Amino acid sequence: MPEPTLLPAEELASIAREVILRYPQDCLSYIPTDGLPELRDAIASRYSSHALRLRRENVLLTSSGTQALDLVGKILVEPGGVIATQFPSYVGAMDAWRPREPMYRDLVLDDGAFDSGSSLAGAQFAYAVPNFSNPTGKLVGMAMREALVDATHRSGVWLVEDDPYCTLQYEGERLPSMIELSSRCSSAQFYDGPVLHLGSVSKELAPGLRIGWVIAAPEVIQTLTAAKQGTDLCSSGLNQRIVLSAMEMGLLDRLAPRMVELYRERRNALCSAMSDHLAEWFDWEVPVGGMFVWARARDASLDTDRLVSVGTEAGVLVGPSSVFDPWRKNHSALRLNFTANSSERLAEGVRRLAEAVRTLLGQRA
Ligand SMILES: Cc1ncc(COP(=O)(O)O)c(C=O)c1O
Repeated sequence: MPEPTLLPAEELASIAREVILRYPQDCLSYIPTDGLPELRDAIASRYSSHALRLRRENVLLTSSGTQALDLVGKILVEPGGVIATQFPSYVGAMDAWRPREPMYRDLVLDDGAFDSGSSLAGAQFAYAVPNFSNPTGKLVGMAMREALVDATHRSGVWLVEDDPYCTLQYEGERLPSMIELSSRCSSAQFYDGPVLHLGSVSKELAPGLRIGWVIAAPEVIQTLTAAKQGTDLCSSGLNQRIVLSAMEMGLLDRLAPRMVELYRERRNALCSAMSDHLAEWFDWEVPVGGMFVWARARDASLDTDRLVSVGTEAGVLVGPSSVFDPWRKNHSALRLNFTANSSERLAEGVRRLAEAVRTLLGQRA
């Protein structure tokens, strides 16, 4: 849900023309299943740091982060196996894994509540969105990142770190990713640890390009590549060439500050309208990044599934908590997006949502 005017249409149109004429084979024919070598190298070098050393063999290019989640499910989830995940959880990941009918365990990543012994025991993998989770906007703090990585290394359970929102940070210092923390536990020349780090250009460039990636140990990348082969043979070479050129031209670096500034302003506008109109019924934290505010009803009997229906009729669209709950039992929270609409429209949306709450409470009375 990016702001449409931030999509760099002119720039991408001219890059597309140029790369098709310059690299017709890459753009218009089949390419290797694991992706264009040059873009794999570029992603490896973008994520490499003093601690985290990556090379091409650590990177698989996918058709979006969603395909990466699907492939992870294909190679890591036995039918009926357990996935330890933050609750509430990203609905797209649960959709991707649904065919395996996994069981879910709540991975509580709060100081004092994380149990390093039992959290991962018997799980096939742990799944976390440490930067500004979808749907809650939560940032997992440094101590909890370290504890989870440590538990992962000790238990031998894989950790899937899904990180599409890392560039959308509005305040504070950037925290190290969990794959970076994991690399500190190993002396291998290149990364060979238990973290699978997922990324995508959807939030920082354009979701329509459908280009994502997995960064992991080379053996994991090979297994994922074999699974990908049976899925789509390869992701679009044209779109991979476009992403590579956009990176080389510095387009992503130029877009990021504009996005961050606009989205910060919109987050502030949404939260201020919420304080004016929704504080009577909901609690929330102001997220320091991402795209969402998670509003929890103080009265748990305020049914947010019904509220979403009433709100939709009044012309405001929000996400009900039930879709982010593996058991569909949470009916008392809402996900509000603040990136796709202007500050004025957000304020109007919140006003209509408050009206919808009043209508719903009136129906109950
Ligand atoms: C947490 C999370 N992971 C993955 C994705 C998938 O993004 P895409 O398939 O566009 O790369 C999203 C999209 O909203 C997301 O919120």
